[in-house]
Amino acid sequence: MLSMRCVLLAFICSTSSYALPRTQSGDVNPYRNSGKTKGQPWPMPLSYKPTPTVIPVNDIDFQFVNLGVHCELLTDAYKRYADIIFGSRSRRSLKFKPDRDVAGDSTVSVLQVNAISGCHGGLSIDSDESYTLSISPGKALLTSNETWGAIKGLETFSQLIYQTSSGQYVVNATEVNDRPRFKHRGLLLDTSRHYLRKEYILQNLDAMAQNKFNVFHWHIVDDQSFPYFSQKFPDLSGKGAYNPETHVYTPADITDIVNYAWRRGIRVMVEFDTPGHTLSWGYGQAGLLTKCYKGGKFTGEYGPIDPTLNTTFPFLSQFFAEVAQVFPDHYIFLGGDEVGYDCWQSNPGITAFMKKMGFGDDYTKLEQYYMQKVLDIVSGLKKGYMVWQEVVDLAKVAEDTIVNVWRDKWQDEMARVTGMGYKTLLSNCWYLNYISYGPDWSTYYKCDPQDFPGTAQQKSLVLGGTTTMWGEYVDDTNLISRFWPRAAAVGERLWSDASVTDVGEAQLRIAEHRCRMVKRGFNAEELIGPGYCDVEY
Ligand SMILES: *[C@@H]1O[C@H](CO)[C@@H](O)[C@H](O)[C@H]1NC(C)=O
Ligand SMILES: *[C@@H]1O[C@H](CO)[C@@H](O)[C@H](O)[C@H]1NC(C)=O
Ligand SMILES: *[C@@H]1O[C@H](CO)[C@@H](O)[C@H](O)[C@H]1NC(C)=O
Repeated sequence: MLSMRCVLLAFICSTSSYALPRTQSGDVNPYRNSGKTKGQPWPMPLSYKPTPTVIPVNDIDFQFVNLGVHCELLTDAYKRYADIIFGSRSRRSLKFKPDRDVAGDSTVSVLQVNAISGCHGGLSIDSDESYTLSISPGKALLTSNETWGAIKGLETFSQLIYQTSSGQYVVNATEVNDRPRFKHRGLLLDTSRHYLRKEYILQNLDAMAQNKFNVFHWHIVDDQSFPYFSQKFPDLSGKGAYNPETHVYTPADITDIVNYAWRRGIRVMVEFDTPGHTLSWGYGQAGLLTKCYKGGKFTGEYGPIDPTLNTTFPFLSQFFAEVAQVFPDHYIFLGGDEVGYDCWQSNPGITAFMKKMGFGDDYTKLEQYYMQKVLDIVSGLKKGYMVWQEVVDLAKVAEDTIVNVWRDKWQDEMARVTGMGYKTLLSNCWYLNYISYGPDWSTYYKCDPQDFPGTAQQKSLVLGGTTTMWGEYVDDTNLISRFWPRAAAVGERLWSDASVTDVGEAQLRIAEHRCRMVKRGFNAEELIGPGYCDVEY
């Protein structure tokens, strides 16, 4: 029988797969022990070879043993994963002995970790995230070139372990050889439309790590509020934040977030979107935004940043110099989307400037002039930059610009942008702020960023993509449940091989994975339909 909501929405429900299994009286509820895998990984590794050999895991006395480099980055990860796998009781017995003798022990009581390098800590778009994991009776070995691969492998190891009905921890003998398909697997949070408290950003980073995302794209400010606390220009948040005491990210907050992410192999790439989407900058920085005119008079309203004032670029140079220090990642995201021209067109100073520059009445030239100056400022700071697609819709900019495609007809745009020779990211089909009734995860799952008409050379310019959570209707109360586990579908698309496309198979694994997220404490919503998780929460 359909639920009341389904009766009301019958035309929608009839398109989704909620048919109840046929049962006979006396049968056990068929939802039990069905519809989910047990101990299978998400996202699917490049090569995953499980066997039917089930090995007990020694949860009382489990140890991680370093065979390779040794550093706090790894010991911290061991503590984290001991808790994740066994719960907090592992705390009392967890040891990191280098010399444990495992001969004759056919259980898995040790994970040997051989990371060859990476304790120096550098994390970049080119970091090596590959690893191999080999589990057999009496021996479990994780190897990687860099610590970042080991951290990815620990996540996979944690997912292969499961509990039998009697509560015994077990793992099937398995061989895994894994690396990501794409280098840039991003997730965007918008902290301007609604402020998100640090604890929720950190929780979201844990969810990202569980799904092997590696870039937190932080859309930190926008028209509505300016929560970034600038040491050089404290009035920006002093006047532009929703609340200058409670709704700001201080340098200490940002350091905490960057370090927390780094420990999980996640880069934090900040976005300061200009010259549009900047109204909140105007409260604390007089003379930055364009004054809009009507009938020869200032209307009291403001538009995008005014590129013609002699104070604009000196301010932006100082501002981005600070940002470049506060955020260690190589890349800064410079926005450049949705610039409206009405206010620019109305402003007499801008009209005079257009004439002087010989731009005619082509305001795209003014926008291009602005963006190129900002790109020059940021490259002068030895940083890389990424932009929204509009920037190269106008004209060519520096050839090392990375372009994020977000608008509709994305296949055409990916073909165009890669045809111009730019490295490219896709977001269009992964706007998870949009919600609907029913199991929409498979739509995100099926979208492939290389699925556009183009040469192999063009396809190779696709670095990956970013799933977004624009914040108009999202705050601390629903961030996690709206993003997860739906973002897991994007996580697998960006990590796993292009051949992993079987939705039926994936459904069984993502159902287990969603329960695994719930077990780890995330309010990850149901995504398949009726059923239950075999965990306490
Ligand atoms: C583990 O082994 C059991 C028993 O042979 C088998 O039923 C199960 O499918 C295996 N699980 C995985 C994930 O391979
Ligand atoms: C380590 O680097 C080598 C050489 O680049 C590569 O062949 C291998 O796949 C990498 N990953 C692992 C886990 O060994
Ligand atoms: C900037 O322009 C204003 C007004 O047009 C002028 O008074 C000022 O001297 C200029 N400043 C610089 C540094 O050029």
